[in-house]
Amino acid sequence: MQEQGITIWFTGLSGAGKTTICRAVEQKLINLGYKVEVLDGDVVRQNLCKGLGFSREDRNENIRRIGFVAQLLTRNGVIVLVSAISPYREIREEVGQKIGNFMEVYVNAPLEVCEQRDVKGLYKRARNGEIPKFTGIDDPYEPPLNPTVECRTDQESVAESLEKVWQKLEEFLKSA
Ligand code: PPS
Ligand code: ADP
Ligand code: MG
Repeated sequence: MQEQGITIWFTGLSGAGKTTICRAVEQKLINLGYKVEVLDGDVVRQNLCKGLGFSREDRNENIRRIGFVAQLLTRNGVIVLVSAISPYREIREEVGQKIGNFMEVYVNAPLEVCEQRDVKGLYKRARNGEIPKFTGIDDPYEPPLNPTVECRTDQESVAESLEKVWQKLEEFLKSA
């Protein structure tokens, strides 16, 4: 049985593919019998982080709360998959250091591609001025400088992105 947990933190623009890759990794881990939990920004904002907005302060509070739960789960042997835009480098690094066993995955697709995908129709609304402070439109995103894995989702399939993350996770699982 796996004794050490880890947090894999997926960061990137809305529509870059965080949730998709996260769920693919989750499914693979479940099939292999691992203990896994997903903390997705869209979901935690309906419960743990309900009421938080998208100012820098609120986004960082969101990330701290997610990071806190991830830390508890990680130290209890769970593989935690976090999917959150987490646009600010400093708080990502802070949370990563606290958690310890931590992997950062930069889910990278150019804004134009994310906007063209417009999975939830949010970019259109943001362009129409209906959603202020939308990441990439009128709010910043600071890319990781040295991510554990980078998935270029505009250039690779979901299966290829999954494989990249899996290779790094497998290294950890073998050494754990
Ligand atoms: S953050 O920045 O890490 O606190 O954001 P997160 O908790 O991941 O929440 C992002 C999801 O909220 C929706 N949404 C917005 N995203 C960015 N900017 C603004 N202003 C915004 N308003 C709502 C959107 O569905 C995000 O989910 P993803 O999966 O990234 O598309
Ligand atoms: P996010 O959670 O980052 O907002 P989603 O996972 O909801 O993004 O949406 C990403 C979209 O991009 C999905 O429609 C997905 O099928 C597509 N996509 C294409 N290639 C990839 C890839 N390599 N990895 C992840 N998603 C991809
Ligand atoms: Mg998502």
